[in-house]
Amino acid sequence: KKGNYDHFMQKEIYEQPESLRTTLRGRLIPGDESKVKGVLLGGLKAHLRTIRRSRRILFIGCGTSFHAALATRPLVEELSEVPVTMEIASDFLDRRAPIYREDTAVFVSQSGETADTLQALEYAKSHGALCVGITNTVGSAISRGTDCGVHINAGCEIGVASTKAYTSQIAVMTMLALAIGEDAISTRARREAIIDGLLDLPGVVKEVLKLDEKMKELAATLMEEQSLLLFGRGYNYATALEGALKVKELALMHSEGILAGEMKHGPLALVDETLPIIVIATRDSTCSKQQSVIQQLQARKGRLIVMCAKGDAAIMCPNGASYVIEVPHIQDCLQPIINIIPLQLLAYHLTVLRGFNVDQPRNLAKSVTTE
Ligand code: UD1
Ligand code: F6R
Repeated sequence: KKGNYDHFMQKEIYEQPESLRTTLRGRLIPGDESKVKGVLLGGLKAHLRTIRRSRRILFIGCGTSFHAALATRPLVEELSEVPVTMEIASDFLDRRAPIYREDTAVFVSQSGETADTLQALEYAKSHGALCVGITNTVGSAISRGTDCGVHINAGCEIGVASTKAYTSQIAVMTMLALAIGEDAISTRARREAIIDGLLDLPGVVKEVLKLDEKMKELAATLMEEQSLLLFGRGYNYATALEGALKVKELALMHSEGILAGEMKHGPLALVDETLPIIVIATRDSTCSKQQSVIQQLQARKGRLIVMCAKGDAAIMCPNGASYVIEVPHIQDCLQPIINIIPLQLLAYHLTVLRGFNVDQPRNLAKSVTTE
């Protein structure tokens, strides 16, 4: 049931304060005199020691689920000090990539039924790796087939394009990073700050949803375009890839997410006065680098749309931009959850304005059960 909404996707975008609350429910320990602040992932408790001792962690998934894993990779590496490698399930299988008993393989899938991810799971299992699932669907093949895991509890997602599952996947994988790192004294303050951020998250998501009208306005200025680029880095490289995926699959507009650090190695040649470029430049350790990316794009008269933290527009783009999206600030590693929401709204409005099917994009299926 769509209730007051025109489309399931719109409903699912708006559900995110609630779906995130459900994802986090019972899993955050706010901390008091008797208990230390921490996370509780029932399904992982018995396996955390093995995960911490693994030689490598592999994140495996497809599409949006792969992007969610990519968004949390920096934090998992920071808190676990275990190297994390990223694998798109089909490519992992094409290469028959090496994987060992000392590895932990984390399979991320909303449906829990994606053929490539499921086959990658069988392959990793047969090589003796510890297999962990991050799934939304209780009883799904990936949920049943993994040694252990976490259900994201985002609720049923009907729109073919994944929205609320993405933000819940990031929230769960953030908790996974906290759980793996929970015995390190040196990162305790950092972990506690992230837990405070998770407790604030539903409220901040509510806040960012207020950008809806502004994103509709922006969509109206972009609806006739052929192409849209998104530049991100660090935690928000995933935001650039995921924003571009939403625009291309829904609005049927060419869109590409680009790692900003790669700009000078090719993409800069595309920049002119007409091609719209979204630069994600919210506050984190990479934001001074994004500032210089913005300057270089401006020097080439790029048509910039800058996403930055509330109040940062004057610092991040002193020479102005064709459009500024100011988002609420949260802990660096949680910022991808906030930043994707205006881009989900942008993709939604672009699709409606261009007259395409929002909930059933052409040629796509919700659950991809064939290779
Ligand atoms: C579980 C219950 C939840 C209950 C809570 C109370 C289920 C599905 N969940 O939640 O209803 O309120 O205890 O403490 O009954 N798993 C995998 N692979 C996956 C996902 C999960 O193997 O991809 C396994 C987990 O290791 C765990 C079980 O499935 O053994 C349930 O996982 P999850 O629902 O995340 O556990 P809890 O949050 O503890
Ligand atoms: C994009 C989208 C797809 C899925 C992909 C994996 O909006 O929904 O890219 O993310 O097909 O699906 P799951 O997560 O079910 O394995």
